[in-house]
Amino acid sequence: MPARNNDRSFGTVTRVFHWLTALLILTAIPLGVIANQLPYDTSEALAIKAQLFSVHKTLGVAAFLLGVARILWALFERHPAPLHPERRAEITLASAVHWLLYISLVAVPLSGWVHHAAVTGFAPILWPFGQTLPFVPQSEAVGSAAGAAHWVFTKLLGLAILLHIAGALKHHLIDKDATLLRMLRGVPAPEQPEAVQKGSLPVLVAFVLYAAGAGIAALLVPNGEAIAADAPVTGAASETEGAAAAEPSGNWRVVEGTLGFSVKQMGADVSGSFATWSADIRFDEVAVEGSHGQVRVTIDTASLTLGSVTKQALEAEFFDVATHPVATFTADILPGAEGYIAKGELTLRGATKPIEMPFTLEITGTEARMAGTVTLDRRDFGMGLSYGDESSVGFGVVVAVDLVAERVE
Ligand code: HEM
Ligand code: HEM
Repeated sequence: MPARNNDRSFGTVTRVFHWLTALLILTAIPLGVIANQLPYDTSEALAIKAQLFSVHKTLGVAAFLLGVARILWALFERHPAPLHPERRAEITLASAVHWLLYISLVAVPLSGWVHHAAVTGFAPILWPFGQTLPFVPQSEAVGSAAGAAHWVFTKLLGLAILLHIAGALKHHLIDKDATLLRMLRGVPAPEQPEAVQKGSLPVLVAFVLYAAGAGIAALLVPNGEAIAADAPVTGAASETEGAAAAEPSGNWRVVEGTLGFSVKQMGADVSGSFATWSADIRFDEVAVEGSHGQVRVTIDTASLTLGSVTKQALEAEFFDVATHPVATFTADILPGAEGYIAKGELTLRGATKPIEMPFTLEITGTEARMAGTVTLDRRDFGMGLSYGDESSVGFGVVVAVDLVAERVE
């Protein structure tokens, strides 16, 4: 059985590529649809949903790698001629569908992968090569744009597959020709088919459909233009606005910073942050009666983003932002072993708990850079109580504050 294609049939390599990619894609599609629809209201349901997504993503990445290899192979292979050279419209349609399928082999998994890499954490790809992608920033906006593209592109792929299978069945059952058999078993066409010039219409149709799909995806993203606004630098600016809006009475003004946290989900770290918060800081290098000053941080809990599980995090089970839109941290700044300690109380989700956060401070001229972390237990604040063990959501939440402030006195 020949490994390469010839004018009458497909060789083994093309057929193995074709059916392997078909198998992966036809498995990834129902997995994606089912995983998307599964509930996540209990710890067990969330675990099943995440596992299905992990398998979906892993098969999808495999389909992408195989798809790229297949496209490279197809570039250098001859394509068996159509068996009915006189049916111009049918040949053009079949060829446009083949182009749609080839583009989908790249665009569908890549959009899913970019979505995953931009909002890492939930449902990891089951492989040892990391969860991020080069050139893809950690950004909720990039994630949702890629997610919208994945959604639209899967619909284009679905349409192309339906037309493609319908065409293959028509050849087999109605025309009773060798089209399906030569892809299935390499059975050659009975006689040498006449070569057909396909022209550029099919490839044009396929690319125009994909461009329209990308346009629709852009419209679906709630704040399409926010892709740039979500970049870390602008995010810091909005935090500064938050800080300014609170008109701090302290002697330091936050100029940029992040208030982030991370939690283990299904064993993988998921990182999140609050976009809007303000800090009222009074700090003096020289301690008066053992205290360097006070800090009060006010956090808009609805400004939280947490990878692909932002929606769940905002709901009643976790941050319950509808009932508790604001969290506050009020503390005295005390000398610590390696810098300082902010010792005070955190009020979150209606519960107030004592917190001690060690932090470092580097003061250069009128600018101070502060960095500190503290680990909280989500159960102390009544969060995720129905997630009674750590298999789906860890108990420990690492809060990290990183900011630059300038002296205003
Ligand atoms: C050829 C490969 C792939 C196919 C055919 C495919 C197909 C699908 C389908 C049909 C859905 C459901 C859409 C809906 O419910 O309407 C979906 C959702 C999803 N896929 Fe894929 N996918 C592929 C690859 C990937 C990859 C590689 C990743 C990530 C690494 C990924 C991540 C996702 C995610 C996160 C969702 C849920 C999106 C959301 O929350 O709306 N997919 N995919
Ligand atoms: C049960 C599902 C499928 C069946 C029955 C099927 C059948 C076929 C047949 C009979 C051909 C040969 C057409 C010809 O001789 O002109 C073909 C070609 C092709 N199929 Fe499929 N296919 C299936 C799934 C898929 C899937 C999921 C993809 C996704 C990428 C795909 C991509 C292609 C491409 C790109 C070609 C063109 C090969 C070339 O000439 O370059 N097929 N398929």
